[in-house]
Amino acid sequence: MRQAGRYLPEYRDLRGDRDILETIRIPDEAVEITLQPLRRMPLDAAILFSDIVVPLVAIGIAFRIEAGLGPVLDEPFRSRADIARLRALEPEADEPYTLEAVRALAGELHVPLVGFAGAPFTLASYLVEGGPSRDHARTKALMFADPPTWDALMGALVDVIVPHLRAQVGAGASALQVFDPWVGALAPAPYRSGVLPYMRRLFDEIADLPVQVIHFGVGTSELLELMRDAGGDAIGIDHRIPLDRAWERLGPSIAIQGNLDPAVLLAPWDVVEREAIDVLERAGGRPGHVFNLGHGVLPDTPVESLQRLVDLVHARTEHDG
Ligand code: CP3
Repeated sequence: MRQAGRYLPEYRDLRGDRDILETIRIPDEAVEITLQPLRRMPLDAAILFSDIVVPLVAIGIAFRIEAGLGPVLDEPFRSRADIARLRALEPEADEPYTLEAVRALAGELHVPLVGFAGAPFTLASYLVEGGPSRDHARTKALMFADPPTWDALMGALVDVIVPHLRAQVGAGASALQVFDPWVGALAPAPYRSGVLPYMRRLFDEIADLPVQVIHFGVGTSELLELMRDAGGDAIGIDHRIPLDRAWERLGPSIAIQGNLDPAVLLAPWDVVEREAIDVLERAGGRPGHVFNLGHGVLPDTPVESLQRLVDLVHARTEHDG
């Protein structure tokens, strides 16, 4: 449940008017916010309270997060020279607060802790656009017009992401998720040439870790096979493709995470129930289904609907253990 806190009043109280990046740097608060959803409902895993731009901020890229908007960078990357603003991440020195929070959570939780990172394309989009973007036009223009600069940017991002993921596992995270929500802006051919090689390198460089990795995208129905080939033990899908159809395309040997439309949770319970059962029926009791939403929890989602959803999924999958 990404950006999960947004729907919880106790989260909004704790955050107050602060930029969430400040809160993330206070390990006690990051621990508390990570635990908040679990106090409300018996979830099967916890996701670390952090954000995909945290490792970039940790090496000196001045992102801030605007509520309702997301990460914003006032001096976006616009030329080859900007790539020198990136350097390899040294987690112990650059983001000790992340590791402290993970260690504390690993000691306290009775469910797995999911560590995470943004994928290179999605992080490149925030760096190049300077904020959220509908069409990712400048990012794609850079990729199409100046492949050497694009390659340098993507390579430098992998050098930030890999240490960030490895350090979370070193500190006690028991699964990882790599988020690439904006990569669905690409057609298969540019994904294959401009993104896949970096995803493959990323997954290769964490392949020795003793944890499973979820590879998540949005709007990636036409990229699923390429994402699978890039790496990950599970592919995270959004609600735009029926889950059984995605599994047909991916084949039985990979796990799938998904894929209830988050907007369904804004409808009355009978609709939520019907749609959740549809997802479960499409999964058909196959091993390797991680029930989740197709994207993050929307801010106006009633907590009670989420609680009932968790109970419904548990009741209907009990035989799976
Ligand atoms: O659910 C959790 O709290 C886990 C921690 C988490 C956050 N962001 C905290 C957060 C995780 C896993 C993320 C991932 C993330 N952040 C992604 C990838 C996953 C996805 O959902 O696509 C992306 C693209 C971001 C960038 C980002 N940060 C966005 C798009 C937003 C939402 C802006 C908004 O309010 O609409 C943020 C802010 C953010 N990150 C919030 C939280 C709890 C909300 C901040 C607030 O308003 O208090």
